[in-house]
Order: sequence, then structure tokens, then C-alpha cells
Amino acid sequence: MAHHFAIFEPERDLADLVTLWQSTVGSQWPLSAERIQLVLNGPEAHHFALREEGRLIAFAATFQSPRGHDKVGHLAALLVAPDKQRRGIGSELHDVAFNYLQQQPGLRAIQLGSIYPRFWCGAPTNLPVAPFFARKGWHLDEIVYDMVRDLRDFSIPTRIVERMQREGIRFEVATPETIDALRAFEEREFYNWLRAVNYMASVGDYQDLLIAFDGERVVGSLVTSSPRSNPERTDVIWQGLLGEDAGSLGSVGVAVSERGRGIGIALVAYASEILKQRGVRNCYIDWLVLTDFYGKLGYENWRTYQPSWREL
Ligand SMILES: CC(C)(COP(=O)(O)OP(=O)(O)OC[C@H]1O[C@@H](n2cnc3c(N)ncnc32)[C@H](O)[C@@H]1OP(=O)(O)O)[C@@H](O)C(=O)NCCC(=O)NCCS
Repeated sequence: MAHHFAIFEPERDLADLVTLWQSTVGSQWPLSAERIQLVLNGPEAHHFALREEGRLIAFAATFQSPRGHDKVGHLAALLVAPDKQRRGIGSELHDVAFNYLQQQPGLRAIQLGSIYPRFWCGAPTNLPVAPFFARKGWHLDEIVYDMVRDLRDFSIPTRIVERMQREGIRFEVATPETIDALRAFEEREFYNWLRAVNYMASVGDYQDLLIAFDGERVVGSLVTSSPRSNPERTDVIWQGLLGEDAGSLGSVGVAVSERGRGIGIALVAYASEILKQRGVRNCYIDWLVLTDFYGKLGYENWRTYQPSWREL
């Protein structure tokens, strides 16, 4: 049966979506109404809602965003009420959302999940969804990880401090004076992360951009968040699991020519120390594959996802 999927309207639908969220994924992935709404405000948002006898029984979220010089679409969430599953509704809603994205001009690919903001960066492996998405044509062959570390017993290892002294590397949070040098670095080395740096500067979160300098040269950087960050940011949304004092770090990058000098791991160590001093207990690093790298500083695997992209 073809259903009528309405456009999601927050004023009308958000409270019911929170109920649907709780009954479908909320026990594994608890989220407040405020955080659900923050994520749903993502770029070029277009979400679908299905009601039956007034009750919201299914929901899908889509965004579109730049990826490098391209534009990509995102199937950011798909939920069907437990008592309405196995009736073809999820499949139909998936196709409606996917077809909607496919018809948008200029899209190069569609991602299962989203980049920023995101609920998930792929199919979460702690939900029994892989068979469904595989049937819908998504290849789920890889695994990516989130890691977490309780910072209460963290301190920067002496060997890292000494190595950075030998290498002549210093670490500073960005300021209005250094932000342009950081922008130039990202544009040259990590074009995909330039947008994040610009966004953070636009909301005033300079203190969350940590820069590694060799003399006056920017040689590496990363992004942090803490409860002091601008409340619009969604770098960590799982405070229901990690605590309201959770923080995060990510987008760890070292210039290609400077790799192997210990700068990458030192960036993570200095950022962890800064976050600890800002009162962060659990530090979250998401969507990564280099678990051994972060494991060197005591970060441990937390949750896992199967990412999937379909080029158009
Ligand atoms: C990952 C990255 C930040 C590492 O920076 P780096 O300055 O070269 O790394 P370091 O010199 O600090 O390496 C520290 C340790 O991690 C190990 N390591 C470095 N890169 C690694 C990698 N890609 N895979 C596994 N281990 C790695 C090093 O061997 C070293 O180990 P040791 O302490 O036993 O000698 C850098 O390669 C980079 O910018 N990559 C592209 C961006 C990226 O993938 N970022 C991570 C995801 S957000």
C-alpha cells in the first residue's frame, strides 16, 4: 500500500517524534527533544513523517551537504514504530527518502548516516538493522569506531612532552590572530575540514581549535568540544550515556610532510589535558578507524558503525 508521507514540521511533530525515538532506538541511543531538534536542523534538511490515525509511526531524516568540492545527500535516520515494523513501511519510506535525494540537483553520492550534524555515521551495529539496509542495496563491509576515555586519571606522558621539546613543536588554541593561518593549513592539507573550522570561528569557539606550530608554521590541528562550547554544536550528543560533562576531540590532522614526528599523538594528548582542565570527564572521539593510534593514550572502543555510501 502506498502511504502518504508528510513533510516533518517540528512544531507539530517533534513531541511525537521524541516518543517514536524512545520506542525504537531510545534505550540504546537516548536523546532529549532538544538534541534531536538540534541534529534535525542540519543543512538542507528535508524530513518525512507518517501518521496513522493521528499517531506518528514512521520518520526519515535527510540532509545535503558539501563533501570536498562535491555535494552529497544523507539518509540521516529512519524509524518505524516497533508494532508497525515488518509491514513494508520502512522499505517504502526508505525509497521515498532515497528517491527524494536522488532527484536533488548536483548530488554526487548518498550516505547512510550523515556527517555534521549526525545521529550516526553509518548503521549502528548495536541495532539489528544491517539486514534491512543490505536488502535496500547498501554495502556494509567496513566498521568504524567511537572511542572514549575517562580523563580523570589522564596526564600527558613525559615522553610526549620531551619529544615535542626536541622537535621544537608548541601547541596553542586558535585566536583571531592565528585563525587565518589555520584556515590556510586546512585548505591545503584537509580541505574537507575547512568548513568545520570556519563554522567554529563563526560561533566564536576559537578555544576549541588546537594548533601545532613549528616556529610560525602550522603543522597540525584538531577540534575539541566541551560543555563550554557553543550550545548549537553537536560534536557530542550522547550525554545521556557519557554524562553532561562529556567532551570530544576529532579532525586530528598533521601535514603530510610532518608525519612521523609524534605531532599527531601529541595533539591528542595536549587536547585531552586541556579538556580535562575544562572539567570534561568522558572524552569522546567518533568515526575513526585508527584505534591503535588513540589506544596509545588509553582511549577504548565504545560503539561501532557500518558506514555506507552510494555514488550517483
Ligand atoms: C593520523 C595522523 C594524525 C598521525 O599523525 P603523525 O604525527 O604522523 O603521528 P605520530 O607521529 O604522532 O604517531 C604516533 C604513533 O602513532 C602511530 N601511527 C601514526 N599514524 C598511524 C596510522 N595511520 N595507523 C596506525 N598507527 C599510526 C605511529 O607509528 C606512532 O607510534 P609509536 O608511538 O609506537 O612510534 C596523520 O597521519 C594524519 O594527519 N592523517 C590524516 C588524517 C587522519 O586520518 N586523522 C585521524 C582520523 S580523525
